[in-house]
Amino acid sequence: MSAARFAGQVTLDGPSGTGKSSVARAAATRLGAAYLDTGAMYRAATVAVLDAGVDPEDAEAVARVVAAARIEVGTTAATERVEVDGTDVAERIRGAEVTRNVSAVSAVPAVRRQLVDQQRDLVAAADAVVVEGRDIGTVVLPGATVKIYLTAAPEARAQRRAAQLGLTTPEEVAALAADLRRRDECDSSRADSPLRPAADAVVVDSTDLDREAVVDRVVDLALAAAGARGVDA
Ligand code: DC
Repeated sequence: MSAARFAGQVTLDGPSGTGKSSVARAAATRLGAAYLDTGAMYRAATVAVLDAGVDPEDAEAVARVVAAARIEVGTTAATERVEVDGTDVAERIRGAEVTRNVSAVSAVPAVRRQLVDQQRDLVAAADAVVVEGRDIGTVVLPGATVKIYLTAAPEARAQRRAAQLGLTTPEEVAALAADLRRRDECDSSRADSPLRPAADAVVVDSTDLDREAVVDRVVDLALAAAGARGVDA
């Protein structure tokens, strides 16, 4: 463990099932940095849409509902705080209904503008932060200290997600793999801020790495980049 102090922004983008969240949390803790899970914000927006009873495919209605919702997330790695209009939705955002509908909600440009503004405000309040999402290096923080794009083979991603959810049968794993493919396809092909590595991102493939090895790599890249910029490292 390094004693160096990190200041700056680490962006961690990539598709679902790469272990991104647990890597981002662990890296933030090791770096003494704040942590922002932008996927949780799109998931919270989806809760607001579902509760309002509007069709997640109706972009205008979705934009209206999300504009009126108060979405709040915490920025510490140790505890997760996600609220919509003062109600704790931290558990609900991980449920199947939200997961099924979040790609549609996150494809709406007005929703993205609103949440990106909020993300930039949260980042501005921290002198060291790890931010995870899909478009953080490309759109939200193009001037970040270091940009990492975490990827893994689709089979490895489906297996990991299955293990997390306690699913074991080949049918369950296959259904999960199909859902991951569908979400990747939606997130990568949408017109606004599609999932892709920034031109200056370091691509880390976690297919054959365990979580600790990936965290080590992220921490090393962050400290090296901060050092190269002459920031505190
Ligand atoms: O990382 P996650 O699975 O919690 O993200 C949920 C959804 O939100 C995912 O389908 C893509 C979307 N998302 C996004 O469009 N932009 C981000 N910065 C983060 C997430």
